[in-house]
Amino acid sequence: MSHSTVLPGVQEITASMIKLRHDIHAHPELGFEEFETRARVMACLREWGYEIHEGLGETGVVASLRNGKGRTIGLRADMDALPIKESTGLAWASRIEGKMHACGHDGHTAILLAAAYDLAQRKPFQGTVHLFFQPAEEGHGGSGAKRMLEDGLFRLFPCDAIFAMHNMPGIPTGKLGFLAGPFMASVDNATIRIQATGGHGAMPHKAIDPIVVCASLVMALQSVVSRNVPPLETAVVSVGAILAGDANNVIPQSAEMRLSIRSLNPEVRQLLQQRITALAEMQAASFGARAEVSYELGYPVLVNDKELTHFAKQVARDWLGDEGIVQNLQPFTGSEDFAYWLQQVPGCYLLIGNGDGEGGCMVHNPGYDFNDQALPIGASYWVKLVESYLV
Ligand code: NI
Repeated sequence: MSHSTVLPGVQEITASMIKLRHDIHAHPELGFEEFETRARVMACLREWGYEIHEGLGETGVVASLRNGKGRTIGLRADMDALPIKESTGLAWASRIEGKMHACGHDGHTAILLAAAYDLAQRKPFQGTVHLFFQPAEEGHGGSGAKRMLEDGLFRLFPCDAIFAMHNMPGIPTGKLGFLAGPFMASVDNATIRIQATGGHGAMPHKAIDPIVVCASLVMALQSVVSRNVPPLETAVVSVGAILAGDANNVIPQSAEMRLSIRSLNPEVRQLLQQRITALAEMQAASFGARAEVSYELGYPVLVNDKELTHFAKQVARDWLGDEGIVQNLQPFTGSEDFAYWLQQVPGCYLLIGNGDGEGGCMVHNPGYDFNDQALPIGASYWVKLVESYLV
């Protein structure tokens, strides 16, 4: 990616935004605790003349910039870190034990701030820009996106179109990725409690063994994806935990299974819930035990608007050429709470490459770091998008 593609106003602020990114990285904060991060973000925005609104989703920040009459665009960055112990050994590594910016949200925040600077200096648009700095994307303590909605986000700050950007290791630095339609999966959690009859391990006929029920159910669950979900659809059912028993010679009274369930289609999502619940209840009943299923709906399927995704991609293509865009991007089975916002306002969630060599370490890994070289490209893209949309 050549330097000439970066906008001059973004170039001007890049060094100080990289410094700020390192500062945020060294002081990671988990969901709804982004107090210092918020203070850093607001200090910049205030200096640059933004109108600031605090308090949505507890630690969320909305910053607005108006320039005459016109449409309204919303750009979102997430601010939260993860409960991971960092192992990068970098000069700006986390100074807070057990917390880490392992998903690059420090980078997303700095990208949006760098764009904010250039937009405020030049105001190269007609209309309104809302910048959304969102807490708690990782879902620790709930979804920040959902909380901001519940606090009236789009009632207070109506938008015609919304966009968000996430870095992606494994993609060359600064390359942008777009996909219309379902792009990120829904994620639901199910907890299945098997209530059975405990007893002596020597006399299983006097007991009902919940561990055997679990074992049978794990295998039965494999048939949901292979036999119930249509072959051309995507679904994941993973049993992440089985908790039961303590001793060699005791049949426990109960057992618990914890499942992660993902799909790229709301109808498949419903089908999964029905089948998993039915299988758990009926498998348990077939052994004389009882299953209690608590099904917790998490982030919905993230669906990018067709027209706006095409538009956003065209902006990137006009600016960077085809070589600046990821070809043949596939949907991901990861999830993202920007999906809630896209249920209410059309828009696009796009990817920016974090590098395929250095920068290739996957997110949520203790060795991960956001690639600062992507920062000015991401920021320039935001400015280009605003200029192109608010004409
Ligand atoms: Ni993330």
